[in-house]
Amino acid sequence: IDIYAFQQDLLSWFEKEQRDLPWRKDKDPYKVWVSEIMLQQTRVDTVIPYFLRFMEAFPTVKDLAEAEEEKVLKLWEGLGYYSRARNLQSAVREVHEQYDGVVPNNIKDISALKGVGPYTAGAILSIAYGEPEPAVDGNVMRVLSRILMIENDIAKASSRKIFEAAVRELISHDNPSYFNQALMELGALICTPTSPSCLLCPVRDHCHAFYEGKQAELPVKTKK
Ligand code: ADE
Repeated sequence: IDIYAFQQDLLSWFEKEQRDLPWRKDKDPYKVWVSEIMLQQTRVDTVIPYFLRFMEAFPTVKDLAEAEEEKVLKLWEGLGYYSRARNLQSAVREVHEQYDGVVPNNIKDISALKGVGPYTAGAILSIAYGEPEPAVDGNVMRVLSRILMIENDIAKASSRKIFEAAVRELISHDNPSYFNQALMELGALICTPTSPSCLLCPVRDHCHAFYEGKQAELPVKTKK
C-alpha cells in the first residue's frame, strides 16, 4: 500500500463528503468526549438530538460536573446504558477538580478517567488535540480488515492491538483528526457490514480485499 496516496484519497473524500454532524462544529475536547460516549452503543441519527439537548443543558465541564445526577440521567433517557452517563459525569467531575476543567491531552491521564477506554482516549486525543493516536472501534476494524486483508477475529479483544498497530502505520501526521474520522465515516457510508459500496469507495484502488474480491468475507468475526 502506498501510504501517502491512501491518505490523500481518504482525506480528500472526507473533506468533500463528510456529514454535517453537531459534534464536528468545533474541537472542544469535552464535546468530542460526550459525543464519543453517546456514539458507543447508539446510532448517529439517534444520538444527534440527545447530543444537542445535552450540550444546551451542560455546555462545559463545569456545568456537567456541578449538575444533579438525576438531571443528567433524565437527559440520557432513551439512549440506554445508563452506566455510560454515570461514568461520564464522575470522570467529568474528576477533570473539573483535578485538572481545573481541562480534559487531559496525554494518553496516561486521559485513560485513567472512568469510562474512557482506548477507543475514547484515541478519539479525544486525535480529534480534539490533533495527536496521531489510533481510535479503533468495530467500524474501523471492519474497514481496515478489508483494506489490508487482516484476518484476525475482530470479536477477540486481542485483535484491537493489531488494528491499532495498522493505524499507527497509516495515520496522517498532518491531520490525525480527519484521518480517524474518515475511517469512521467510510465505515458508516461506504464500507458497511453487508453489501459495501466498493464502486463508490474513494480508496478501492488501495483495498486488498476488493482486489481479491473478498470484501464480503471480511472482517472475520466469530460470535462471542
Ligand atoms: N461513530 C463514532 N464516532 C463517530 C464520529 N466522531 N462521527 C461519526 N460517527 C462516529
